[in-house]
Amino acid sequence: MALLKEHNGYECWLRLAPVEDHIKRKEYQSWCSSLVTAADRSVVMETAARELSEGITSILGTTVARSAEAQQSSAIYLGVLGHMADIDAILDLQISATLQDEGYVIQTVDLPNRKAILLAGKSDKGALYAVFHFLRLLQSGESLNDLYIVENPKNGLRMINQWDNMNGSIERGYAGKTIFYHNNQVVTDMKRIRDYARLLASIGINAISINNVNVHEVESRLITEALLPDVARIADVFRAYGIQIFLSINYASPIQIGGLSTADPLDPGVKQWWSDKAADIYKQIPDFGGFLVKADSEFRPGPFTYGRDHVDGANVLAEALEPHGGLVIWRCFVYNCLQDWRDRSTDRAKAAHDHFKPLDGKFLDNVILQVKNGPMDFQVREPVSPLLGVLPNTNQVLELQITQEYTGQQKHVCFLVPQWKEVLDFDTHAKGSGSTIAEIASGSLFGRKLGGIAAVSNIGDDMNWTGHILAQANLYGFGRLTWNPALTSEQIVKEWIVLTFGSDPAVVETISRIMLDSWGIYENYTAPLGVGWMVNPSHHYGPNVDGYEYSKWGTYHFADNQGIGVNRTVQSGTGYTAQYHRPQSDLYESVESCPDELLLFFHLVPYTHKLKSGKTVIQHIYDTHFLGVEQASHLVQAWSSLQDKVDTNRYEQVLTRLTGQAEHAKEWRDIINTYFLRKSGIPDEHNRTIY
Ligand code: GCU
Repeated sequence: MALLKEHNGYECWLRLAPVEDHIKRKEYQSWCSSLVTAADRSVVMETAARELSEGITSILGTTVARSAEAQQSSAIYLGVLGHMADIDAILDLQISATLQDEGYVIQTVDLPNRKAILLAGKSDKGALYAVFHFLRLLQSGESLNDLYIVENPKNGLRMINQWDNMNGSIERGYAGKTIFYHNNQVVTDMKRIRDYARLLASIGINAISINNVNVHEVESRLITEALLPDVARIADVFRAYGIQIFLSINYASPIQIGGLSTADPLDPGVKQWWSDKAADIYKQIPDFGGFLVKADSEFRPGPFTYGRDHVDGANVLAEALEPHGGLVIWRCFVYNCLQDWRDRSTDRAKAAHDHFKPLDGKFLDNVILQVKNGPMDFQVREPVSPLLGVLPNTNQVLELQITQEYTGQQKHVCFLVPQWKEVLDFDTHAKGSGSTIAEIASGSLFGRKLGGIAAVSNIGDDMNWTGHILAQANLYGFGRLTWNPALTSEQIVKEWIVLTFGSDPAVVETISRIMLDSWGIYENYTAPLGVGWMVNPSHHYGPNVDGYEYSKWGTYHFADNQGIGVNRTVQSGTGYTAQYHRPQSDLYESVESCPDELLLFFHLVPYTHKLKSGKTVIQHIYDTHFLGVEQASHLVQAWSSLQDKVDTNRYEQVLTRLTGQAEHAKEWRDIINTYFLRKSGIPDEHNRTIY
């Protein structure tokens, strides 16, 4: 067997591995020897042409001759519609009319004297995406003889949020330190940032916020004259890959860095300050994206201090950015984090809807509300946020979390695309059936011009970016799904495996199963039936059933000797179910129709309550925890079967993590099972060991 080339994981899905099949390689080489592209190129087109040439060299071992006119009998034409006569002459007018701003076409065409493959973008970004798509085709062994691919992104804003701090740390980061900052300064060597921009562009990301939403002392200064040149250096790197940068700002900036005595959004001095600030920023970064804002949330400053609301808060920033084309992305993660567990009327799940629904239609056009996928906080399982269905007159962006804060912190494998798919497919019924989150986030359901999906990044300066190599699939999957929410989890994972590990059928089959089963497995041995939060406080890793039960941040399970769950019904609970449209509100309100996997999120039930599966709640808890541990150990076995098929370096890295996961799953099982045996006094039907 040929020796496998070693990889440390740095290239992720951009390994651009050589095509080994001799015939295929020859066929591809015949297509890829000549590249025709316009002589005057934008910086993004320059990137596109370079990525294409270098990609071809890496995959086919040959160089590509670049020219402004075709010289060979077959050629690739790379360009932007309306900017390259060759392409305009060939491309079907009907196709070009269907392309949106960042869309592209990949098409094989027969010309009178030569054959050609067109990689044509509506804009230069579109052309760059076409290049990465084309390179994917080469790596997946697709035939090039008859290509006809038309792609448009479903979401306008496809954004990554870095929760990076300038002291080097990353909030909820599990893969080392930040690649952006060192010792409270922007790094000087931009190589790693450039490689990150490249990874992101290859999956269609077009925006990034580069500092934590919790903006501390030093980061507040990123918008000052002293640090803007450094921010501009970062913007230059991302610009070349078609990515706009955003900054998280401190709402109290006018006081903190402006020397004013107030940050009241209605104060004329404050208004003027923000508008001057915006002008300063755009002088240095003409295509700056705008501000991401966490205000009046978890002790961050905001308009509430001055008796103003979120509309006042966001609109003052929006007015300042509007003349420059900037956006305000205002987060809706706002709730009371000083609760009292004795008081059952306060329900954290209701908070975002309570705060923001009454404000629908009052925000300026360049404000976008960013709403977390669930009403709580990125749990393994929670319902979809009802806020997403009730803002027909407001721009919205869905917020997901790629970093695995509550899903195993990249020590455990948890492929999140299936979870995100469930969110995107959820039917809010806001405008009758078919009113899915995918349609709302993109803006199409309510006819909004702005919309999209943002997610908290999972990368750091670990050599393999994500700590766990298999966690790379979450970043990849986020980009692909955000571009096209109709892709299936199976398609996405297969694509990722082929690019990352190659197309050996055993590799594809085995890793697909590991990935597609992983979320369910993680759910099995952690918090049951949608109840959530049974984790150690503050760092959120590992089991602790009562970790948050009596804390100020909220109370999550109410387990006693009779039963468990939170009564969120209208009839006798917090009334949260009413935040959904019918029929979802009815579905959740009734204990009979509420789906099993969310039962304890919506209902307080006795341990002997029978689930739709026919099991009692207590037996379900025991069974899933025993099962989850078995499944976790099967993951180790499954991976071990690939020992000869994955290079040693990456094989060992993954094996170590999976082995650790299998051990840690036992800790979860035993703590959860013991807790509930002690609380309920009901023994396991199968008499297995519970401590
Ligand atoms: C979670 C997370 C915090 C983060 C917050 C947010 O609560 O634990 O670290 O700051 O979400 O989204 O703002």
